[in-house]
Amino acid sequence: MAFGRRGSVQPKPVNDSPPPPEETPAPPAPAPETEAAPEAEAAPVETADAPESKPAPKTPEPKPAKKAEAPAPKPFDLDLPSASAAANERLAEIKVLVFNDLLEAVDLGEISKLAPEQVREEITDMTAEIISMRALVLTVQEQTQVVKDICNDILGLGPLEPLIERDDIADIMVNGAGQVYIECDGKIELTDITFRDNAQLMNICQRIVTQVGRRVDESSPICDARLMDGSRVNVIAPPLAIDGAALTIRKFKKEKLNLQSLVDFKSASPEMAKVLEVIGACRLNILISGGTGSGKTTLLNCMTQFIDKGERTITCEDTAELQLQQPHVVRLETRPPNLEGAGEITMRDLVKNCLRMRPERIIVGEVRGPEAFDLLQAMNTGHDGSMGTIHANNPREAITRVENMIAMGGYSLPAKAVREQIAAAVHVIIQASRLRDGSRKITHITEVLGMEGDIITLQDLYTYEFDGEDADGKLIGAHRPTGLRPNFWDKARYFGLESKLASALGMGG
Ligand SMILES: Nc1ncnc2c1ncn2[C@@H]1O[C@H](COP(=O)(O)OP(=O)(O)O)[C@@H](O)[C@H]1O
Ligand SMILES: [Mg+2]
Repeated sequence: MAFGRRGSVQPKPVNDSPPPPEETPAPPAPAPETEAAPEAEAAPVETADAPESKPAPKTPEPKPAKKAEAPAPKPFDLDLPSASAAANERLAEIKVLVFNDLLEAVDLGEISKLAPEQVREEITDMTAEIISMRALVLTVQEQTQVVKDICNDILGLGPLEPLIERDDIADIMVNGAGQVYIECDGKIELTDITFRDNAQLMNICQRIVTQVGRRVDESSPICDARLMDGSRVNVIAPPLAIDGAALTIRKFKKEKLNLQSLVDFKSASPEMAKVLEVIGACRLNILISGGTGSGKTTLLNCMTQFIDKGERTITCEDTAELQLQQPHVVRLETRPPNLEGAGEITMRDLVKNCLRMRPERIIVGEVRGPEAFDLLQAMNTGHDGSMGTIHANNPREAITRVENMIAMGGYSLPAKAVREQIAAAVHVIIQASRLRDGSRKITHITEVLGMEGDIITLQDLYTYEFDGEDADGKLIGAHRPTGLRPNFWDKARYFGLESKLASALGMGG
């Protein structure tokens, strides 16, 4: 039968008396198990988070909003503005009731395989049927809400769905069932979204990770995955996460930022952007350094803009995020071990293999371990214009981090030899930072000059200087050239970019 329908809806009356009017009675007896149970077994992921008969409050009273000043749209205020807690509770009960009837009537496992639009249509029809059979009194708005919530539970990420739909959110952070934070405009704020309970949250986590062929439970409580739209997901489940599963989603931005948008956001000055352009075009080897969420990957993506159409570029990432516009790109992705703990392909495996693929440029999404050595080697052996990001708070620290990664990789090289490798391989470090007012800035363009004795010498070409703070706590500052003449001047001349560089650095020809 199409849609896995089991025939017309036959809601089980709550009791023998005629269907109750508006007020739903005390929670219905647990959904009659007769037929639904085996289905629930067959498709645990879809059905498991069917609301239990216990009508746990789904939408508690909105927490005191922290997002006071910004009159941002609040799509997660789904309930009627005037809805009181009692009305919310009633709606939650109705949802449970309708959901249980739906369970009776359709095979949710089957239905969730249909195209989302079809599912919505089907659920809308059936919900209307159930509501009229049960003689429930709902406003049009409430009915739409019930349908939407049920669809989200079956298809999507339940209460998170409205957040997923928003384009202005960078991260979603779920700390157990009762707390969902988002990062919006660089600020972290608490939402009034909650899950029914930890079981519902775990089910949603499970649904996400099964899509990439993984599993999350007590025996393998840590898991990385990806949403259909490319967003990156990390789940850490109890018992490691003490207060319920922690789910972190780095939303995938469809509209990638380019260098011009960074200038528009004042993350870089127009002149600074020009210097970056020259750096990209001169095929310098670049490390992009920054903290978590500081904009490293975004910046790396921007820098790839300046790769020539004809160049063979190979990208290595843990989760493919980069979006190169050039035609000749090979994209590689690492692979975590499978359920039996076998089959892992590390970043190092990828970078090493890359070298046998005749690359002209190698781009490593995130340098975190011994692959640092292989990337340096690539940079030192004619793959100019290679790039990678690294987690560090300033350019000097970025160098130290690379040294440490190589040391931890078990190479028995003297420290000085490692430093010489680094000094020869890396030409420029670009530092990205997320400042305390939430803004993201490129704070340094720093050149690696070479060695002086045992020390790698660096020189800043551009820095962001703080001048103070305004009344709203926004930092005031400016990007300023240091006035030093870059070592790559001759390269810029070779590529015919000398005068552009000179003007961007505020120097006469
Ligand atoms: N300069 C910027 N201005 C505003 N938002 C930015 C900027 N750079 C990055 N972002 C946003 O910040 C989030 C994190 O950026 P990402 O590049 O993934 O950080 P990282 O790789 O350092 O963890 C993304 O949502 C991205 O769109
Ligand atoms: Mg990143």
